Amino acid sequence: MKMEKLNLLLVLSLFAACHVSFSITDGLLPNGDFELGPKSSQLKGSLVTGHNAIPNWTISGLVEYIKSGQKQGDMVLVVPEGSYAVRLGNEASIKQKVELVKGRFYSLTFSAARTCAQEEKLNVSVVPTSEKSDWGVFPIQTMYGSNGWDSYACGFVADYPEMEIVIHNPGMEEDPACGPLIDSVALRVLNTPRRTRANLLKNGDFEEGPYIFPNASWGVLIPPHIEDAHSPLPGWMVESLKAVKYIDSDHFTIPNGKRAIELVAGKESSIAQEVITTIGKFYELTFDLGDANNSCEGSMIVEAFAGRDTIQVPYKSKGKGGFINGKLRFKAMRRRTRIRFLSTFYTMKNDGSLCGPVIDNIKLLSVRYPTRAL
Ligand SMILES: *[C@@H]1O[C@H](CO)[C@@H](O)[C@H](O)[C@H]1NC(C)=O
Ligand SMILES: *[C@@H]1O[C@H](CO)[C@@H](O)[C@H](O)[C@H]1NC(C)=O
Ligand SMILES: *[C@@H]1O[C@H](CO)[C@@H](O)[C@H](O)[C@H]1NC(C)=O
Ligand SMILES: *[C@@H]1O[C@H](CO)[C@@H](O)[C@H](O)[C@H]1NC(C)=O
Repeated sequence: MKMEKLNLLLVLSLFAACHVSFSITDGLLPNGDFELGPKSSQLKGSLVTGHNAIPNWTISGLVEYIKSGQKQGDMVLVVPEGSYAVRLGNEASIKQKVELVKGRFYSLTFSAARTCAQEEKLNVSVVPTSEKSDWGVFPIQTMYGSNGWDSYACGFVADYPEMEIVIHNPGMEEDPACGPLIDSVALRVLNTPRRTRANLLKNGDFEEGPYIFPNASWGVLIPPHIEDAHSPLPGWMVESLKAVKYIDSDHFTIPNGKRAIELVAGKESSIAQEVITTIGKFYELTFDLGDANNSCEGSMIVEAFAGRDTIQVPYKSKGKGGFINGKLRFKAMRRRTRIRFLSTFYTMKNDGSLCGPVIDNIKLLSVRYPTRAL
């Protein structure tokens, strides 16, 4: 079902490329970092009083305009990009209309932080949409990022040339000062990677994926599939309960190319891709695994699966970067084989944030003489 749609998109995008378009292809939305704020007449303390007071955005409900360094009780609020962010109170939302190239596949990245002890949630949707449920609920926890902020990504197809991005806090907290902070909202057009002669896996090097903020040294969380109608990591789906982290070579040590995946949630999250295989044929799955040079120390094991075959590759991380190679040879038992990766253990940094092994450069090839090389 989804495959058909993506194929169709490719054709559409050829036409779309002929149009002159001012739509965003890679970067922040207009005032996506909220650096342009309301006039002082449209603020009551930090509370924004007009629906259109924040340039380029429309708000509803209790939305606060937060300056970095502002205090909330004993807590000093920090802002990751620039000096300003917004806070969404119970049932509050912010939205912005964006011009898109109809039919293309987009990823949306935003940064958020919770401000109270309770778990908070954000409902991110892109409307209107021809699909029944193009929205995802993101639990905002502080388990991953070290400074309280995390970036999240989701993916959607532009069903219309103009759509509205809506970020809504569905919460009903007793304390109105609770409510997540939002900063930096960006879009990126994603290309549909294909399998090639050199690799039967799509996007095996993870080079195609969501926008990463140049100043965000904490990567982007890709939530599990159940919370998101479309994976912002083309070719791959995030299975199970927890997110994986998408990281870049500007901020981390990456085995190959510019981008990779950090398996931050132990066995609770895995990334998977289904490939077409020929029953009885032999295949070789190779991959790089290591650590991202982000002080994530400990004994790690990456488990790779190909259908029912599996291999566990141990890696001792000193947290200073480095990688080794893993290899799994298997005989295909089905026409479709599920390739899957997970981390056997949880790993934590000294500051308590979750981290884990990095995987990259995943390749799948059929092999002709399996016995000779075994
Ligand atoms: C965003 O808001 C600024 C300030 O109000 C305005 O000058 C600009 O044209 C707006 N940009 C878009 C794309 O609407
Ligand atoms: C990123 O950080 C640099 C240096 O701290 C700063 O000059 C720049 O404005 C920041 N960019 C954004 C988008 O916040
Ligand atoms: C999320 O937002 C969408 C669109 O605004 C809405 O249809 C959906 O019911 C919301 N989901 C939750 C859990 O609030
Ligand atoms: C790890 O990071 C440090 C500090 O940024 C850098 O000096 C070192 O070269 C990096 N190590 C690797 C293997 O990339």
